[in-house]
Amino acid sequence: MIESIIREIFDIEEILVPLEGFRKGSVLDALIERFDLIFRKEQNFLVDHSPVGYPAVEIEKIWASESERRSVIALVRINHAGEVSAQGLYLGQAMFSRNQNNFLFLLKAASEERLHLAWCTRRLKELKGTVSLFTPIWFLGSFVIGATVSLSGDPVSLGFVEETERQVAAHLDGHLARIPHDDKVTRSILQRMREEELVHGGKAESLGGATLPPFASKLMGIAALVMKETAQKF
Ligand SMILES: [Fe+2]
Ligand SMILES: [Fe+2]
Repeated sequence: MIESIIREIFDIEEILVPLEGFRKGSVLDALIERFDLIFRKEQNFLVDHSPVGYPAVEIEKIWASESERRSVIALVRINHAGEVSAQGLYLGQAMFSRNQNNFLFLLKAASEERLHLAWCTRRLKELKGTVSLFTPIWFLGSFVIGATVSLSGDPVSLGFVEETERQVAAHLDGHLARIPHDDKVTRSILQRMREEELVHGGKAESLGGATLPPFASKLMGIAALVMKETAQKF
């Protein structure tokens, strides 16, 4: 596997130019062109987006205690960090995506994660909570991981999306079990996100995602756990 990754790195130009409209230039040109394409298409990725489709719940929950409100803030913070990471992963994976359809799928999934992020940002504001101090690190670290994964080829990269979304949906189930039943806004956000994560995973599977080895899934679970524990507190 390592050998094939190294071979791919040497063939990086072959990886980068197959997308529509790409010129055959130097490796550096190709890298810059791909990076530029991703962030030009996704140029608003750092802008505080308007939370289109934010759940319209007229009556805000009356909090039973300060600790109840704080516990919900901690959960929303974790999901905010998760949505930042999901964007980093998918934009990173687009860096070395071989196929036009897969490339566009990754950008579309990233832009939908951005909408989820906008919902989490708005909810955190309503709850008077703050985002994780490590937000830029979650994005950059995830971008590097996504780009590295995509060097292994589209089937592995799509399998990674599938596994990520499976783990995110399971994680959201856990959070939904912990959010108070009368916190309709937060519940509605997490439910909508869960539905859309499952669609992302299903789409990655239909595009030919490979099944990842169990150790890879385990490693992803551990990385997610570190992020969740850190984002919850800092
Ligand atoms: Fe999401
Ligand atoms: Fe997703």
